[in-house]
Amino acid sequence: AEIVIVPDAADAGALVADEIVRIVRANPETVLGLATGSTPLPVYEALRPRIAGVDVSRVRGFALDEYVGIDPAHPESYRSVITREVVEPLGLDPARIRVPNGSLEGIEHAGADYEAAIETAGGVDLQILGIGTDGHIGFNEPGSSFASLTRVKTLTAQTREDNARFFPSIDDVPMHCITQGLGTILRARHLVLLAFGEGKAAAVAGAVEGPLSASVPGSAIQLHPHATVVVDEAAASRLA
Ligand code: F6R
Repeated sequence: AEIVIVPDAADAGALVADEIVRIVRANPETVLGLATGSTPLPVYEALRPRIAGVDVSRVRGFALDEYVGIDPAHPESYRSVITREVVEPLGLDPARIRVPNGSLEGIEHAGADYEAAIETAGGVDLQILGIGTDGHIGFNEPGSSFASLTRVKTLTAQTREDNARFFPSIDDVPMHCITQGLGTILRARHLVLLAFGEGKAAAVAGAVEGPLSASVPGSAIQLHPHATVVVDEAAASRLA
């Protein structure tokens, strides 16, 4: 992967937002791969002023993941987060932005449906990724197959702890998620993985320089011909 070390998250946001604006101008039907969590927020923030005046009416988006069994109207469902942080502020067409369906009803075919939708859209042009402290990308927890497609996974205790900050208590963090697989993510034409802070340093080093291993799902990016890793000094601190 190409490693870009930036002074802080705001610089990373500006860098990635500039690239997104560039590709949307070149192709108004760009398909964006959207991440949730804290990491991509500076990108969405930096996009607001930059995307104003750019035709985004035909831009499509696919979120990486969703909690299973959460009410889509819950403020911390990834459907709500994507609506609040991405669709509304950037003026995207909500009908063109998909989030995996985490409803229990129909969950058996939700993964295949999502794969089909991505394929019909022509695949993801630029996939934004964060990384979990346990090395996950999407919610592909350690042990995920590099060939995996969108499916239901169990969140690790570590991930539920990490995400407890978004919920009243850790007991309110869902146990399961539906996530694009590592195989799904690897099909995107450009991967942009962002990470900030000391807490991500080990995961970043494992993903970028460690052996290819299902124990560090982020290491799958080493298989991708066009992956860019944008990190601050702290997140880069364990790179050789
Ligand atoms: C979010 C996602 C996760 C997060 C990761 C890091 O859609 O797929 O892989 O990117 O858990 O989360 P933050 O950015 O909150 O540290």
